[in-house]
Amino acid sequence: MKRLGVGFAGTGWVVNTYHIKAFNGVRNADITAVCDLQEQRAKTTAALCKEIGVGNPKVYTDVAEMARDSEVDAIWITVPNFARTTVTQSITEEVIQGKAELMGIACEKPLARNVDEAKLMLRMAESAGLNHGYLENQVFMPTLVRGRDIIWRRGASIAGRPHVARCSEEHGGPHEAWFWDASRQGGGAVNDMLCHSIEASRFLLTDPNEEKYALTPRTVSAEIAVLKWSRPKYVEKLKEFTRGQIDYSKRPAEDMGRACVVYEAQDGELAISELSTSWSFVPGERIFFELLGPEYYMQIDTLNPEMKVFFSREIKGSSGEDLVEKQAAEQGFMPVLPNEISTYGYVNEHRHMVDSFLKGTVPRETWQDGFLVVKLLMACYMSAEKGKRLSFPPMGLEGFIPKVAAGTWAARDIVNASSE
Ligand SMILES: NC(=O)c1ccc[n+]([C@@H]2O[C@H](COP(=O)([O-])OP(=O)(O)OC[C@H]3O[C@@H](n4cnc5c(N)ncnc54)[C@H](O)[C@@H]3O)[C@@H](O)[C@H]2O)c1
Repeated sequence: MKRLGVGFAGTGWVVNTYHIKAFNGVRNADITAVCDLQEQRAKTTAALCKEIGVGNPKVYTDVAEMARDSEVDAIWITVPNFARTTVTQSITEEVIQGKAELMGIACEKPLARNVDEAKLMLRMAESAGLNHGYLENQVFMPTLVRGRDIIWRRGASIAGRPHVARCSEEHGGPHEAWFWDASRQGGGAVNDMLCHSIEASRFLLTDPNEEKYALTPRTVSAEIAVLKWSRPKYVEKLKEFTRGQIDYSKRPAEDMGRACVVYEAQDGELAISELSTSWSFVPGERIFFELLGPEYYMQIDTLNPEMKVFFSREIKGSSGEDLVEKQAAEQGFMPVLPNEISTYGYVNEHRHMVDSFLKGTVPRETWQDGFLVVKLLMACYMSAEKGKRLSFPPMGLEGFIPKVAAGTWAARDIVNASSE
């Protein structure tokens, strides 16, 4: 079997922390190229690939040039949200003009910052005739996949389909300034993280034997708020951390959000996704799922692993993220994730994408799924702005830019936005 040559467009935090290392568990692929506007970053990633034995990639600063490399068969788009469409356009134009030969293109979550951009992403991939994969790692988490299988096989087959999925991802806040800037990122915590929970809950509520879009979203309701990072002390902290780039006293984004999506199954049964997220959860990264059915229940909590360690106040070491992503302490009784790369689904995600591109089959997650997630996210912002539950898809989704991203949203909007 041919080995897939993978090029990474963007070599920042997620690539170095997770993706490159996950390739150790991927068969039939090598990382043959890495590209970043900041050449030094690409060089560092290339060195890391070599060191851990997942490839000996060439270094690029221009993504079109990387696409033309005959050793690159597929590109993983891992640039920030604001650079998605331009990078995708550069790649797909090379393919359309016959200068690049690619078997596939994969893109990190969220697919885009709004519906118009997501539509453009999908159109570009399709017009270049590329197989496309949406990098939503959570639906590849071994626990989620196994839990869904057990619940549907043993529980739902006897007692009926599950009626509620509760999903959340929370941590203390992102690591780069652009995530906090809603115009560059597309929103705040909702756009950044609720995208995961939306797709994970749709995955849980869908019968593995049903067709992919068997659940139809009927209504969406949501609330967003900035509660921690708008307080004066944290406004200053954020300013300092982002070297003056971000000022949440003037232009905040939501640091928490919750949403409810009502789905209708093909047999008319209703199911509800209860989703929540925040950038003010201090223990560290936590991904949480519950699936409720008539006679069964499932729970996954990544901060409740089998290992915990205790360090007394006599242990005063340096701070780090070696126990769990975004940990905020090094003392006390603390959970440890021994293999976050696998737990969060990255190994299975990359394996699956590589396999799909090599075989020319449609990946489990495509840009169609990414597009649906963006539509649901935008419906959440719209609902929060209007203070009411909306039928899905609501009117005006195309062309809609959340107030948060437009810079016209205010912290008090949560009490002002009300349909009463
Ligand atoms: N699946 C997950 O759980 C997860 C986790 C973190 C980030 N992400 C997603 O991955 C993407 C990247 O996040 P990150 O944390 O690595 O960001 P980052 O800012 O750390 O890295 C992005 C890199 O892209 C480079 N870049 C920007 N424009 C470019 C261009 N036009 N061409 C080439 N390189 C360019 C930057 O120089 C930077 O090195 C984001 O979309 C984010 O939402 C997903």
